[in-house]
Amino acid sequence: MNPNLEKLQAYPFERFRALIRQESQNPELTPVSMSIGEPGHEPPATAMQAMTESLPTVAKYPPTRGSDVLRECIAQWLAKRFGLSPGTIDSNRHVLPVNGTREALFAIAQCLFNQNDTKKPLVLIPNPFYQIYEGAALLAGATPYFYNTDAANQYQPDFDSIPDSVWAQCQFIYICTPGNPAGAVISARHLQQLITLAHQHDFTIISDECYSEIYPANANPPSGLLQASADAGNIDFDRCVVFNSLSKRSNLPGLRSGLVAGDAGIIEMFLQFRTYHGCAMPGYVSAASIAAWSDERHVIDNRSLYQAKFDQVITVLETCFSLKRPDAGFFLWIDLGQSDTQFARNLYREKSVSVLPGSYLSRSTELGNPGENHVRLALVAPLDTCIEAAQRIHDFVTV
Ligand SMILES: Cc1ncc(COP(=O)(O)O)c(C=O)c1O
Repeated sequence: MNPNLEKLQAYPFERFRALIRQESQNPELTPVSMSIGEPGHEPPATAMQAMTESLPTVAKYPPTRGSDVLRECIAQWLAKRFGLSPGTIDSNRHVLPVNGTREALFAIAQCLFNQNDTKKPLVLIPNPFYQIYEGAALLAGATPYFYNTDAANQYQPDFDSIPDSVWAQCQFIYICTPGNPAGAVISARHLQQLITLAHQHDFTIISDECYSEIYPANANPPSGLLQASADAGNIDFDRCVVFNSLSKRSNLPGLRSGLVAGDAGIIEMFLQFRTYHGCAMPGYVSAASIAAWSDERHVIDNRSLYQAKFDQVITVLETCFSLKRPDAGFFLWIDLGQSDTQFARNLYREKSVSVLPGSYLSRSTELGNPGENHVRLALVAPLDTCIEAAQRIHDFVTV
């Protein structure tokens, strides 16, 4: 067995299941789950139709680099969304379709990390974080180094506080913008600061941007790493790789479709890695993806559904917690000022609402554990259900 497997930690949902194993929910209340961030809105009908119409493609092996049409469609979406000048992004050099960002965020670590470079053992990971980053780093043989994002910094990474000696040992850094769980968007200025550091200290930036399309209707779209890179004159995206997905943008988490884009040298090696990894995107997934990336109407509708939920849930909960709508994403990250695990367990038992303890999404560091005493609420259920759950949480806290 690969000894690194033993370093993997239980997944947050497994830990939550263990937490409530001995508990029964209140039989008078219909259970509501806010613990898992699985989008619940309707996927676009055009994508569903494209998928069924292209089922006969199963008779052929799909290409690992994806169909030309899909790569071109992704390149056009990226260029439009992130304001890239015509010709900056080349669908043949800078883009690959992937089977969801989870798969690709994991695989890129196996492709990039050089175990022989003993002077650079570190992979930097935000804290709290999406646990795939840690598992990917550990299985690649790297040592994770966690940088905290907390209320003191508006949940933004503080790149200035990371010592040069750490940057010098870093092979690559994961960033998540908008972040899971707090929804903070890293500003273009900070992204450019990170690009400068990457060039200075010879590391790669892996930017997980899968929540980039879920933002308040009246706000500017979150900036992204490709845009920051091009604006800084790094027009071939050296050391910059972004990941995005149709799971949240288009409510297609079961389709398993996303993109990776950026540094042409890394994309080329990643393509080679993926040839052996055997993860080409099936033709019917590709057809549905082309339909989804080509349409913005359903994304605008999706945003307004989340907006309504944030408005109403925050109205109910702001009387008992200090809350504001996050920059983006569909989570509320609440500072409880009390034990998150006890809160989640008791809420489950008394009010039949599942929320995820923040400490299951974070690690303890010398600077503390930024997930402790927090919970994450995913606003993925229908509006009425979210309001009902918020009311129950309010009652639970105020009695
Ligand atoms: C921060 C973050 N990145 C990546 C993913 C994976 O998304 P997918 O594999 O569906 O694209 C998730 C899913 O919840 C996530 O929260």
